[in-house]
Amino acid sequence: MPPKMLSADERERLLDAARKVMKHAYAPYSHFHVGAAILTNDGEVFVGCNVENASYGMTNCAERTAIFSAIAKNGRLDIRAVAVVNDHDVACSPCGACRQVIYEFGPEAAIIFQSANGWQESSIRELLPEGFRLGE
Ligand code: THU
Repeated sequence: MPPKMLSADERERLLDAARKVMKHAYAPYSHFHVGAAILTNDGEVFVGCNVENASYGMTNCAERTAIFSAIAKNGRLDIRAVAVVNDHDVACSPCGACRQVIYEFGPEAAIIFQSANGWQESSIRELLPEGFRLGE
């Protein structure tokens, strides 16, 4: 079944939650603060920010922080939408690793992010064609 479009209220609520958590970003290396908010198909909202590390490759993006936090709370996750914001007000779509992790828990998820042409809403399938799934 195709995903139900987000209402303007749901979208704003998600963006607000992402903006709020962005303030907690730990980004002393890039100084690029990111916030992500997930809306589940049950109506729950989970948030996450980026957490950097002196060993740069250990950095965790905001999107994955939100997803891991949801799993830690409920042990399951059915993503309806993900909103991503950053404090530079520049284009910032989820990285490849986050796309694959989003796809795991929301193959029909809508992603709201800032693109080169302003705010954009795309499905994860558009952002990650042929996402990997075991046994498919
Ligand atoms: N980052 C995110 O948290 N999410 C994105 O969608 C893009 C990039 C973070 C990772 C790193 O801490 C900083 O932004 C600069 O790449």
